[in-house]
Amino acid sequence: MKEDFFEIRQILPEDKIPLQVGLQMLSPESIRQRFFASKKEFTENELKFLTEVDQINHLAYVAVHHLDGKLLPGGVIRAIKDSQRPTYAEIGITIVDSYQGKGLGIQLFNTISDRALQVGLTHFYGQYHTSNLKMTKLLEKFAKTRAPLFLKHTGDGFIYFEAPLKN
Ligand SMILES: CC(C)(COP(=O)(O)OP(=O)(O)OC[C@H]1O[C@@H](n2cnc3c(N)ncnc32)[C@H](O)[C@@H]1OP(=O)(O)O)[C@@H](O)C(=O)NCCC(=O)NCCS
Repeated sequence: MKEDFFEIRQILPEDKIPLQVGLQMLSPESIRQRFFASKKEFTENELKFLTEVDQINHLAYVAVHHLDGKLLPGGVIRAIKDSQRPTYAEIGITIVDSYQGKGLGIQLFNTISDRALQVGLTHFYGQYHTSNLKMTKLLEKFAKTRAPLFLKHTGDGFIYFEAPLKN
């Protein structure tokens, strides 16, 4: 029987190569929307920072596509606690282009949000480009079952958002 499903789990130190491979699978547009610049590869230090996380101050989850015995990177979400505001965490998410629009983004958001509540967080925050309609839609979907989003145009082509984790 064909194996074809997505697994969502906490990131592991063993995810360094899949993370690097996942970056190569992204379109230049998705890279720009996530990193606000072009990015060809992660350095060793970056990979260590991105995969060796405590899941308390730095939470991170991946989506892995299991396809006929192969494991393919599908996406990653992370939330890093703000040192000035201990109940707020900056959120970043990337779904590989070929998997966008299939609901992985909202699944990752909901999963990391459950963990965030366990570690005392109340809000996610971040910035994205005004052209990023997919992110606007994703945040609106996340907020449907929670308290309303706070959105503010920062005047330089970006939107700053705060997303409460509870109703
Ligand atoms: C933004 C992003 C994370 C969304 O993830 P996703 O897996 O595509 O989102 P989902 O499939 O969960 O969809 C959530 C909502 O977004 C909207 N959406 C998703 N893909 C869309 C597309 N291709 N066109 C229009 N709307 C889309 C839909 O309204 C959807 O809600 P619905 O299922 O009720 O229709 C993804 O597009 C991405 O990784 N983009 C590049 C990186 C980035 O922009 N990161 C955000 C800044 S940190």
